[in-house]
Amino acid sequence: MIQLKKDHEIGAMRLAGGVASTVLREAAAFVQPGVTTLEIDQFAGERIRHHGGKSAFLGYRKYPCEICISVNEEVVHGLASGRQVQFGDIVSLDVGVRYDGYIGDNATTVAVGGCDPAVQRLLEVTENALDEALREALPGNKVVDISRAIQNCAEANGYSIVREFVGHGVGKKVHEDPQIPNFDDGSRRSPVLKPGMTLAIEPMINLGQRHVEVLEDGWTVVARDGLPSAHFEHTILVTDGEPEILTCPGNLPSEPREL
Ligand code: MF3
Ligand code: CO
Repeated sequence: MIQLKKDHEIGAMRLAGGVASTVLREAAAFVQPGVTTLEIDQFAGERIRHHGGKSAFLGYRKYPCEICISVNEEVVHGLASGRQVQFGDIVSLDVGVRYDGYIGDNATTVAVGGCDPAVQRLLEVTENALDEALREALPGNKVVDISRAIQNCAEANGYSIVREFVGHGVGKKVHEDPQIPNFDDGSRRSPVLKPGMTLAIEPMINLGQRHVEVLEDGWTVVARDGLPSAHFEHTILVTDGEPEILTCPGNLPSEPREL
């Protein structure tokens, strides 16, 4: 069942989104050659707490880290370790924050210093796919309109869409209904978007083939062909008109506070 959030819930989700997006920016700025993914994870955890939030991922289905850090061919759910990121790597950061009982979920992919122009293009197209998807998040449209927008962007550029992981409703829980595939899965009935829905839209796009596998650690999802993968995500509110992006730094609570 897809919940429509009440005004007080939307207020809390703005604050959660403000913390999540601020920490995502802070963590992205912290990424530089030689820094380890464990250092990035610990830094992000400290920033989440500084802003009065809690990691929404740590402990979720026993997930062991504060945020998800996925390097190069890692698609999502990468685990922090002693690995040093290097010039030319790309790093996907996925930050989920709980604040006042509600969750903001967002992700970005950054190049460490710089990267191959072909990989830079993958990042641009994936971010663009998210933008195009947001344009479709209108009341009366269907979830599949979001899915198609992402698929069209990726395929127009010869990239492939990861199918096994999808966007989702978000609220008190990290994953709520509906599921939001990043491609048209041909399902007969796709939910109609309504004001009050809060959705995490998150294209995961591979430079090469779409196939993925999970590493022995039980979490890290990688592109089977070893080619780079990008991930961008926002949490949004469906309104009467244009969607409202909840994961934006302008929503940061004015006074950091303990909860
Ligand atoms: N943003 C990720 C998602 O929507 C959250 C990672 S779930 C965790 O699936 F289990 F890794 F925490
Ligand atoms: Co998500």
